[in-house]
Amino acid sequence: MKTLILFSSRDGQTREIAANIATELQDKGVETQLSNLHRIEDVDWNAYDKVVIGASIRYGHFHPGLKAFVDKHADALNARPGAFFSVNLVARKPEKRSPQTNSYTRKFLIDSPWRPDLCSVFAGALRYPRYKWYDRFMIRLIMKMTGGETDTSKEVVYTNWQDVTVFAHDIAQLTRNT
Ligand SMILES: Cc1cc2nc3c(=O)[nH]c(=O)nc-3n(C[C@H](O)[C@H](O)[C@H](O)COP(=O)(O)O)c2cc1C
Repeated sequence: MKTLILFSSRDGQTREIAANIATELQDKGVETQLSNLHRIEDVDWNAYDKVVIGASIRYGHFHPGLKAFVDKHADALNARPGAFFSVNLVARKPEKRSPQTNSYTRKFLIDSPWRPDLCSVFAGALRYPRYKWYDRFMIRLIMKMTGGETDTSKEVVYTNWQDVTVFAHDIAQLTRNT
């Protein structure tokens, strides 16, 4: 049996965090399957005894495909231990980095028919040089308003990799009785 790790990522940071979790689990002897949530056709749920989903925020929202997937597979998701993590830049502020204080994550959990056993919020990456001009302009505006990095020549990774390791450890320990 394997742990299925799905990611919904636009610019790659959520994929990188998911890959990191996969590596951590493999190091603990757990078999994993890492897949893009938007690319999988159908899931053979019998092959998986645990599931992890990670998704990023863009302009205040998760990708609509996340909700579609969770709605479609709610029964299978709820039938096994599961973990969810969200990735966004608001979470660079420690007080906005818990499932309760991160509004995107809190709202997702309230609306979701899936009840993951574990949930975490990670700060993502700010990569100005890679954005199209409109996105760069908008993100810079948001950063200016919220006291963040405004130098558009910079790439900043805010993800706390130690927190990712702790989350992976918690996933490895996860059983239905925890
Ligand atoms: C166009 C754009 C819009 C974004 N909108 C938000 C937002 O509304 N709130 C937020 O906290 N972060 C926002 N972010 C930051 C992303 O969530 C962050 O860069 C994250 O690392 C992206 O993850 P991904 O690379 O897996 O897509 C935005 C980033 C981009 C490029």
